[in-house]
Amino acid sequence: MASICSIAAVAALLTSSVTAVAPPVVKRALPDLAQVIDQKAFNVLPKVLPADDFNGSSSPWTPLNFTADSLKEKPFHVYDEEFLDIIGPNPTFTILAQTAKDPIFHEAVVWYKKKDEMFFVQNAGAPDAGTGLNKSAAIYKISLKEADAVKNTRNAVGKVTVTEVKASFEVPNPNGAYQYKGQIIIAASGSGPNIPPVLTVLNPEPPYNTTVLLNNFFGRQFNSLNDLSVNPRNLDIYFTDPSYGKSNNFRPAPGLPTQVYRFNDRTGAVTVAADGFIMPNGITFSPGGKYAYVTDTGMWRNGLELLNPSSIYRFTVAEDGTFENRKTFAFTDTNIPDGVHCDSKGNVYAGVGDGVHVYNPSGKLLGKIYTGRTAANFQFASDGRVVITGQTQLFYATIAAKGDFVEKYL
Ligand SMILES: *[C@@H]1O[C@H](CO)[C@@H](O)[C@H](O)[C@H]1NC(C)=O
Ligand SMILES: *[C@@H]1O[C@H](CO)[C@@H](O)[C@H](O)[C@H]1NC(C)=O
Ligand SMILES: *[C@@H]1O[C@H](CO)[C@@H](O)[C@H](O)[C@H]1NC(C)=O
Ligand SMILES: *[C@@H]1O[C@H](CO)[C@@H](O)[C@H](O)[C@H]1NC(C)=O
Repeated sequence: MASICSIAAVAALLTSSVTAVAPPVVKRALPDLAQVIDQKAFNVLPKVLPADDFNGSSSPWTPLNFTADSLKEKPFHVYDEEFLDIIGPNPTFTILAQTAKDPIFHEAVVWYKKKDEMFFVQNAGAPDAGTGLNKSAAIYKISLKEADAVKNTRNAVGKVTVTEVKASFEVPNPNGAYQYKGQIIIAASGSGPNIPPVLTVLNPEPPYNTTVLLNNFFGRQFNSLNDLSVNPRNLDIYFTDPSYGKSNNFRPAPGLPTQVYRFNDRTGAVTVAADGFIMPNGITFSPGGKYAYVTDTGMWRNGLELLNPSSIYRFTVAEDGTFENRKTFAFTDTNIPDGVHCDSKGNVYAGVGDGVHVYNPSGKLLGKIYTGRTAANFQFASDGRVVITGQTQLFYATIAAKGDFVEKYL
């Protein structure tokens, strides 16, 4: 049995290692703005730094022989050939807007279909934003028509209007958002001990009135609500409650475990969908709602804790809407996975420390839309238009993949 086959195989291996160059990972032609990152090229590095020097947090991972500039020059990083189907033959990437230091491009990126606008919010609790206790993080919007007009320009700063929608404690430190029956529902983190976190509906048109749907769990304040999503099967609202308000000094000590909740807004029932997280953060569902993806950003809680997750977990959503089969879907390579969304084919996108990472449904990293800086969140408009929030920079990418939505809530 130890036959000719295996001898031939060994011989072939020897021959190829002597004569042949490693086959390219990607054989198809690349779009102008794409480049291949060959993972085999850094499996063995000349020097591997200890955790004190390389801790996966502070600087984007720079593969061997790349530089910060070369990574940004062609921002579609192809880790696997399947990524070419995601980005299509002619992806575009544009910096739409930037600020000197106020992180107004933070999270809660949500598409308002009727006006083709994208809403997003300022960072709650960042010192450079001055938000948290005295001032709520603000809500902003842009017109996607304006964004689309500059999509072939790499740097369009100044060409797109960023409009403030409302800056008030009626939506106290907003952080997550989703469509809600033609309006927008926001998860807000609260402020101080007397303004509790809320789920609030915002009218996306003037006068931008709001209606609070939930502000407590049987009389107890939530910690600091972070993100939410609607399951397309049961239309329940699932939301995460980490304790970043406390980490960022604008909320008191947490009074509940950091968990994922489920809210049925027809009956008022609030239940726990999952616990066992350090910092449950982004949440989304696969098309059709069979799977839930929840990020845990526990690596950043009170400073950097490298033994904690910077991971995406997948749950099966049972017919009755409960979560089961918790599975580690991905552990991200650069800082933490914050916002998470699926495309219409069930690929999973996460906003991470160097851009948007794209995984296939098996958790294989296909590629990155590289920003070279923290991209806490992002969102699709119906077709492949993607707005990415990078704290002090706002990005716009157009790709072949399409977003996934709960149609009747658009
Ligand atoms: C990196 O660059 C060096 C110097 O040009 C070259 O010898 C080496 O093969 C390159 N390594 C990879 C993985 O491309
Ligand atoms: C992480 O590593 C970077 C250098 O790459 C260093 O500047 C930073 O202080 C480190 N952070 C921690 C918390 O060790
Ligand atoms: C909030 O306002 C109070 C009173 O105006 C001021 O003393 C305090 O420094 C402010 N805190 C922050 C974090 O800006
Ligand atoms: C805003 O006010 C309008 C008019 O009264 C109402 O129809 C709408 O439901 C309100 N929206 C919210 C989110 O309160």
